[in-house]
Amino acid sequence: MPATALPRDAGHMRVVPDVIPGPERLTGLVSQAVRAPSSHNTQPWHFAVGDDAIDVFADRTRSLPVTDPWDRELTISCGAAVLTLRTAARGAGLRAETVVLPDGPDGDRIAELRLTTAEDATIGERQRAAAIEMRRTLRGPFSDAPMPAGLTAAMADAAGREGATAVPVDDGEQRAALGELVREGDAVQFHDPHWRRELASWLHPRRRGDGLVVPPGTGVLTRAVVGGANLGGFVAARDASLVEAAQHVVMVCTVDDEPLDWVRAGMAVQRMLLVAAADGVQAGFLNQPCQVAVLRPRLRLLAGGLTPQLVLRFGVPQSAHAEPTPRRPVADVVERRPARI
Ligand SMILES: Cc1cc2nc3c(=O)[nH]c(=O)nc-3n(C[C@H](O)[C@H](O)[C@H](O)COP(=O)(O)O)c2cc1C
Repeated sequence: MPATALPRDAGHMRVVPDVIPGPERLTGLVSQAVRAPSSHNTQPWHFAVGDDAIDVFADRTRSLPVTDPWDRELTISCGAAVLTLRTAARGAGLRAETVVLPDGPDGDRIAELRLTTAEDATIGERQRAAAIEMRRTLRGPFSDAPMPAGLTAAMADAAGREGATAVPVDDGEQRAALGELVREGDAVQFHDPHWRRELASWLHPRRRGDGLVVPPGTGVLTRAVVGGANLGGFVAARDASLVEAAQHVVMVCTVDDEPLDWVRAGMAVQRMLLVAAADGVQAGFLNQPCQVAVLRPRLRLLAGGLTPQLVLRFGVPQSAHAEPTPRRPVADVVERRPARI
């Protein structure tokens, strides 16, 4: 691409090639990236935006030490934000060259993206970018409508392209075994007062811009969670029936269980979710058996020895409209990227 010519008297100004998207355009992409899903809607990320590059950082001050002591899900959430950023970039006709964990597995920098203008997006890329705003996590039952033909294969392909494996759990016996693990996971978590307190601390009114939204003035719910008022049994029975009734249940798996695998799982799940949402299908998470350490070996057996990172159920929503969950203002998660040589 040609460089934009500047007048001779431009003095100290640099000649800026017109391939550089600029920080305003890149901040626009970040405003889409924050629509990624995250555990308890913690939004554990921040972004450093330059002229042609974005760094995605983990914000470990927003971790969930009881549910997620190793920041596994936190890293998955950041991986989902990276995929969303890449998808938004392609939708806008940019190409994102992405380096994952550029400072090594223990670094906070989850990815570095260099953005350049590229050929126009394909129809599929545009549909996935449009789905960023349409995707929702749903917690109730789905409708009986069948999923579009070929979608499960397209989702499996999406996971594979990001270095993860989508293992279906649609066989009756396996589904029952998974339902039992979800039930046990709920029971273990709701039995633990530390876990309940952590959950309660992320039950927020919408105006807070993060957390799991509860209507204003529902302190009763928070107190019930903290007090453990027999919610465990109720939630376990509800979740097990959601597993059994779902049209399609998938475990998003990786070979190993290291930070790179977690980033890959996050990119894979968000790519799957966007492929599904573009086709009118949404998902709900049932991760309890991944979160409760004593249940993970049994879950791994169901996955044929792979490491399950997430469990999801998919279906067509009962209602076409579901209000989006809130996000913090973009200004709160963006800083200027220092120039790097
Ligand atoms: C790593 C990860 C773990 C999650 N775990 C659960 C879960 O166990 N149960 C659940 O209902 N939602 C779970 N979610 C979904 C989040 O609660 C949801 O993304 C968040 O509330 C924002 O809502 P949205 O996805 O509709 O934008 C998880 C999401 C991620 C990325």
